[in-house]
Amino acid sequence: MLVIGGGGREHALAIGLAESDLVGSIHCCPGNSGTAKVGINHNLSLDDIDGIVKLAKNIKTDLVVVGPEGPLVAGLSDILTELQIPCFGPHSEAALLEGSKLHAKEIMNSLNIPTGGVIILNSESDIKQALSSFKPPWVIKRDVLAGGKGVVVTEEISEAEDFIIQSINTDDFVLLEEFLIGEEASMLVIMDESGYVCLPASQDHKRIGEGDTGLNTGGMGAYAPAPIVTPAVKQRVEDEIVGPMHHYLRNQDKPYRGVLYVGLMINEEGAPSVVEFNVRFGDPETQVTIPLIESDLAELLLATAEGRLSSIDPKFSNKSAVTVVLASKGYPKESLTGLPIKGADSQIEEGEIKAFIHHAGSDFNDQGELISTGGRVLAATAISSDLRSAVEAAYAVIDEIELDGSHYRRDIAFRAL
Ligand code: AMP
Ligand code: GLY
Repeated sequence: MLVIGGGGREHALAIGLAESDLVGSIHCCPGNSGTAKVGINHNLSLDDIDGIVKLAKNIKTDLVVVGPEGPLVAGLSDILTELQIPCFGPHSEAALLEGSKLHAKEIMNSLNIPTGGVIILNSESDIKQALSSFKPPWVIKRDVLAGGKGVVVTEEISEAEDFIIQSINTDDFVLLEEFLIGEEASMLVIMDESGYVCLPASQDHKRIGEGDTGLNTGGMGAYAPAPIVTPAVKQRVEDEIVGPMHHYLRNQDKPYRGVLYVGLMINEEGAPSVVEFNVRFGDPETQVTIPLIESDLAELLLATAEGRLSSIDPKFSNKSAVTVVLASKGYPKESLTGLPIKGADSQIEEGEIKAFIHHAGSDFNDQGELISTGGRVLAATAISSDLRSAVEAAYAVIDEIELDGSHYRRDIAFRAL
């Protein structure tokens, strides 16, 4: 198996795959210090699509699992499919659901999928009128892959105007979106042309600060299952969003084989709307979702990549999982990296409680010492029969980690608790 990417998500995928009897060996590209313990890392850039394809051929991989969106938008899945190498992750055209927010809006509107209204702005003269047609806070989205940095949500009209003007100058146009009120949740849906499977719903914590305050990040922690997604809400998500999207995607020329990440806003009445689609697993949602899949992960992902998902009936655990992200000093702005890390082997195994560390932005230096290499460095993940004891175990583990200037949120899972 070849896992593409090098974050906490890919460490979680590698661990899940390693538990399968079907899997002989795991290769990661580029991987991190966590995947190095599960398999073999290959130091290639994610932009080097030709290099990744060559690697897949050289190691005669049976399955490529693509973590991040970049290689999917760049066409990695298209090339692998042509070479008849099974790939979990959609082709480049479908990847535009994440690559272009305008494209995603157009598809949702054509399928009557609930989502916020939008105004496209391409001229400075329209800005004031457009801003007056929505109540604050204003949601402004660039139509590019920006790693979570292309969205501004603000009540400051001058900040809104500045970001709109700046975006029009660089990208020619920008989206001004209706602000959706409610609670967010993430629904990861594995799908191919034969069927779809909704994984346990999770909730990310996108803001840097406790109580969901401060700057947006890639995600500071997550838990699953998320009680906001009640059985009734889940049914609505399937009827109004997942079902129509699956119907649309299965009927395209090329089938969608991978995971569709549905970013949801659920209002007080339990009505879901789409905040965003991603064409990949979420990070850190994957770290709490994979451990709740009781069935063979390799079989599930391989069946999807081969278009025979409907032959699999995956089973899920009824436990709870939580993950708390430890970030470098400065994150989400400029992260201080290259610092030594201690305590990353911290773990708990007590009865039904299990807690351990997912590695993300960390690697071994030439002396074999663990050092920080990114913004989100490690994540303490815990699984237990109840969420509260999982949360306590995750914090007990993360408290053992020593990394100068590092920080983490103390309130992960607060909405559910
Ligand atoms: P996105 O990259 O589209 O997921 O946006 C990043 C974050 O901004 C989301 O996770 C939400 O917290 C927030 N956001 C985006 N769009 C909206 C919206 N229409 N209404 C409210 N919040 C939003
Ligand atoms: N955790 C948010 C994302 O993966 O997009």
